[in-house]
Amino acid sequence: MKIKNLVTVLLVAIILVSCASAAKVAPTETAIPTSTFTPIPPTPTITPSPTLQPLRCDDNQKSALESSVNTDIFSANQKLNRTINLGEALEFPDMGHWTWITKEETFYMVKTAGFSAVRIAIDFAQHSDSAPPFTIQPSFWNNVDSVVEKAVACGLVVIINMHNFRSESQIPYSQEKYFLALWNEIAEHYKDYQDNVMYFEPYNEPGDPSYWNSLIAKVIPTIRKSNPTRPIIIDVADWAQISGFSTLRLPSDENLIASFHYYTPHEFTHQCVDFIEGAMAWCGTTWENTPDQSNKINLDFGKVAEWAIKYKRPVFMGEFGSISIADSESRVRWTTAVREASTAHGFSWGYWDLCDTSGYDGSLTFGIFDCYKHPLVTSYWRQEMLQALIPEP
Ligand code: GLC
Repeated sequence: MKIKNLVTVLLVAIILVSCASAAKVAPTETAIPTSTFTPIPPTPTITPSPTLQPLRCDDNQKSALESSVNTDIFSANQKLNRTINLGEALEFPDMGHWTWITKEETFYMVKTAGFSAVRIAIDFAQHSDSAPPFTIQPSFWNNVDSVVEKAVACGLVVIINMHNFRSESQIPYSQEKYFLALWNEIAEHYKDYQDNVMYFEPYNEPGDPSYWNSLIAKVIPTIRKSNPTRPIIIDVADWAQISGFSTLRLPSDENLIASFHYYTPHEFTHQCVDFIEGAMAWCGTTWENTPDQSNKINLDFGKVAEWAIKYKRPVFMGEFGSISIADSESRVRWTTAVREASTAHGFSWGYWDLCDTSGYDGSLTFGIFDCYKHPLVTSYWRQEMLQALIPEP
């Protein structure tokens, strides 16, 4: 190679090398046009996500319920053996934040925990015209129907319980016609549901025994016009306390279940509640299951069992429960003792209540399950309380 050519080659080489290093030091956006740059996709390393637990009940549960015939009212009562109350959601003018009751997963969780039935507390009067013919609003029927359908889809027996009357705990003395008209509508509305799937409970915790006896004598025939054999649950008067058995007058109808509620001792179960005067003084009360304490339950339940044998009626303890602020070991002891004594005396039972709202708004509740988290699969049962109710699902 001639010297001149060699110099030219060296110069070109030097220019090329210096351009390349300049590009490394200060790359410009135009150095590699993005339009022509095709990134190589990364090798997939994500493993398939685990199959999510289904949060809907399957069809077998509904058909199992529908095909399990009630041979008599005692076998109908056995189906309420593990009932949970669904309080609050349908008791108020609007659903507010109690929308958990509209979710299929609520009923899935209740069923898979081992409950057999739900008692739905409803204020129908609140959602109806207050003048004849006292029509229940179609939009409210939609709500109640969709709750009922979800429970039945999970194979849960449904109790339709009129729980309040326009937010009052008692049916006003002047409102007998209104009360009966509502039951006429409810009974007509649900007459096609099988008797072994839905039971009616005309009123929660009636107070005055003679007024209640007079209403019983009218509401049962009202229901029977369209539902000749459906199980009807009749609470005893005196706010469903055991003392109410002594005044109860039932007609000669074979498909009745008598019901009472048990919250004894109130100093323990209702400690710190704002709706009982003096309950703040009970805060901190424990329940130790001393011989005296367990004898008290057996004495109380013995009286109910005597009544049941005498009148040949099945008995449902439709509510029992303790406030979630109470000492949790005491709650477990009390719940276990009451549940066991109830079963030993042949009563079916319903725990009050499902939802624990304390984590949501700080209010005191009887609940044992956090209904407010979604999806509910991430929520929790108060496991020790669930275990006290259902040791083996
Ligand atoms: C009754 C009331 C309900 C209350 C429960 C326990 O069912 O209707 O509101 O929480 O008793 O006192």
